[in-house]
Amino acid sequence: MEAPMHEDSIITLGDVTVHTASVPTVDTCLYNLSPAQAAFFKTQTGIDNDEDLKRHILEVQAKAYKVAPYPCIYGFGFLRLNLSNFPVYEQILQLGRERPDAVLLDIGCCCTLNHYKAAADGFPAKNIIASDIVNEFLQLSHELFKTTPASYPGCLLPGDAFDPEFLSIAAPSDDVSPVPAIDLSSLKSLNPLHGRISAINAIAFFHLFNEDKQLHVARALAGLLSAQSGSVICGFDTGSREKGIVTANVSGVEYRTFSHSPETWSSLWDGEVFEKGTVKVETEFVEILIPGIRHLMMRWSVTRL
Ligand SMILES: C[S@@+](CC[C@H](N)C(=O)[O-])C[C@H]1O[C@@H](n2cnc3c(N)ncnc32)[C@H](O)[C@@H]1O
Repeated sequence: MEAPMHEDSIITLGDVTVHTASVPTVDTCLYNLSPAQAAFFKTQTGIDNDEDLKRHILEVQAKAYKVAPYPCIYGFGFLRLNLSNFPVYEQILQLGRERPDAVLLDIGCCCTLNHYKAAADGFPAKNIIASDIVNEFLQLSHELFKTTPASYPGCLLPGDAFDPEFLSIAAPSDDVSPVPAIDLSSLKSLNPLHGRISAINAIAFFHLFNEDKQLHVARALAGLLSAQSGSVICGFDTGSREKGIVTANVSGVEYRTFSHSPETWSSLWDGEVFEKGTVKVETEFVEILIPGIRHLMMRWSVTRL
């Protein structure tokens, strides 16, 4: 549960290694909020003034970047309304509204806004779990949104998705009966939630890991998912037309990630992780600019039928 050390010559971000010397220092010129992002942050933080909001966000960004220099912190990707742009976002909110005690898990959440946004859009916050291996990121999300455990009832749960004490692999559930409510505030790990989670957001998480570990974490998350029709896992990772290693250059740093193709990603979920024909897998290539350079990404979702 330790943050990577910047003093080392190599930093590891999941399985992605980066040389310390090549990591760029924060560039505040890249700060740029869309009107929708600005409106969201103003409502959440109570900071109305654009300059004050910028100062506040830059302070948190600097602290988060010191903890671990993820490109999404460098390029302000952690401020983007990513999940709410997903085609399945409405489906997730609907689960929160209509399925009694539906739980949303945001895994590898860093200090991003996705779970706060879902709560603001009506998903019951007491049924949201935001989890990350680095507890400091979870604490920084309180700082970013000016919340406390008392004011934001979402459960911020530190843990390593590869530690079986925290998240063990269980076969996908086939029990479609409604799941009883669970008090998330008493959770110490994700294991009591096997077969009980309605929606899992795993944006920019899988691509941190090699091929074997992506399969491992896919199985682990699948074991958490409720068998009820409409339960969904979604994510956003580096994209590739052929599966393999993808090299991306972000401000002079080379990131080598393992990327599935839409075909291999679909067959991994539909046939390997879940029994064939029991899920619908949707994938879509999206080009993003970080900063100024085009990167091919894949937006995806896996819905239980
Ligand atoms: C690139 S950030 C993604 C942040 C966020 N999901 C988003 O929407 O941009 C990856 C996050 O995964 C977390 N992480 C890395 N390895 C992990 C692990 N084994 N278990 C849980 N979280 C992990 C990191 O600490 C980091 O916050």
